[in-house]
Amino acid sequence: MTDARTRQAAPQAQAQAAPQAQAQATPQRLTIRRPDDWHLHLRDGAMLQAVASETARHFARAIIMPNLVPPVVRSHDAAAYRERILAALPAGSNFEPLMTLYLTEASDPADLRQGVGDGLVRAVKLYPAGATTNSDSGVRDIEKVMPFLETMAELGLPLCVHGEVTDADIDIFDREAVFIERVLAPLRQRLPELRIVMEHVTTRHGLDFVRSQAQGMAATLTTHHLIINRNHLLVGGVRPHYYCLPVAKREAHRLALVEAATSGDACFFLGTDSAPHATHTKEAACGCAGIFTAPNTMSCLAQVFEAESALDKLEAFTSLNGPAFYGLPANEQALTLVKQDQPVAYPTQIPVEDGQTVTVFDPGFELYWAVEEAS
Ligand code: NCD
Ligand code: ZN
Repeated sequence: MTDARTRQAAPQAQAQAAPQAQAQATPQRLTIRRPDDWHLHLRDGAMLQAVASETARHFARAIIMPNLVPPVVRSHDAAAYRERILAALPAGSNFEPLMTLYLTEASDPADLRQGVGDGLVRAVKLYPAGATTNSDSGVRDIEKVMPFLETMAELGLPLCVHGEVTDADIDIFDREAVFIERVLAPLRQRLPELRIVMEHVTTRHGLDFVRSQAQGMAATLTTHHLIINRNHLLVGGVRPHYYCLPVAKREAHRLALVEAATSGDACFFLGTDSAPHATHTKEAACGCAGIFTAPNTMSCLAQVFEAESALDKLEAFTSLNGPAFYGLPANEQALTLVKQDQPVAYPTQIPVEDGQTVTVFDPGFELYWAVEEAS
């Protein structure tokens, strides 16, 4: 197959069929426990209707990001959002949305206790104010949320962290490393009992930091950060569908991410950060951040893991390490991937409403691993 590490940025060069895969005559099968997605944006309204089934088709559960407009701050907001998600699922789906609250400086520990007690709230999301899409109500001063974080530590509830500082003077490619130094490391020291997921890690520093923490710390890795580096985003023309936050970094970091994902190490698991935006809002002078990977994530991952001779580690990454960190049982249901002779056809776009679409992630190489549909 075309190795993601060596492929060219130009789209014409990306669409080449993979020679090794073509030579592969005998179909191969891989059956794993059904995967979960530990970082997912489902949005609301028409977009939710359009994308919910794309995740529910392959995934059993997902941690649902709360960055709606307005954000999901209180437990009753999360309960109402959960109902809207369930209503958007195809009939017969038993996909389980795992709800999160959006941490603000006014978040209420008593409300958290109630949401957790009800079995509704599974994590809380920390966005530094202004870090990314719809993060204006995020945290400016971590001091102000310490009582809330202490309550979380007491309840054993994971804090999902968007690990980037937002200071205007910090270069966008350095924001993760600076966040670790200024916010995460001090927070770990101050409140070591707090379970933290550093989300969508994009750098070797992030991986090393997570590995250096004895326990109570994990990281999610996205599908796209295992496949694209910043050249894919910027060389030969700007490619808005490869723009996300944290922004893709240089190739050495991508290689480190692939190594971590395929290592089987319990502190790393899948959070796709599948983040749909209407195509026209990305193909714009000031395009939105977010890459929509829900439809083809499992095919992409199988390809990446196969290239590393690590298909035996795929289940740990997608289906075992996440539930273990969240204290949930792994799924009993299975998912089978089948390697085909011909590339799997995924739509390039999915219709939303009124002629709008959302564009599906293009990994830049053909995908040969198909998810076997239940008969
Ligand atoms: C996410 C979104 O669109 O909501 N965008 C992104 O680039 N990842 C927000 C986020 O997770 O940062
Ligand atoms: Zn996200």
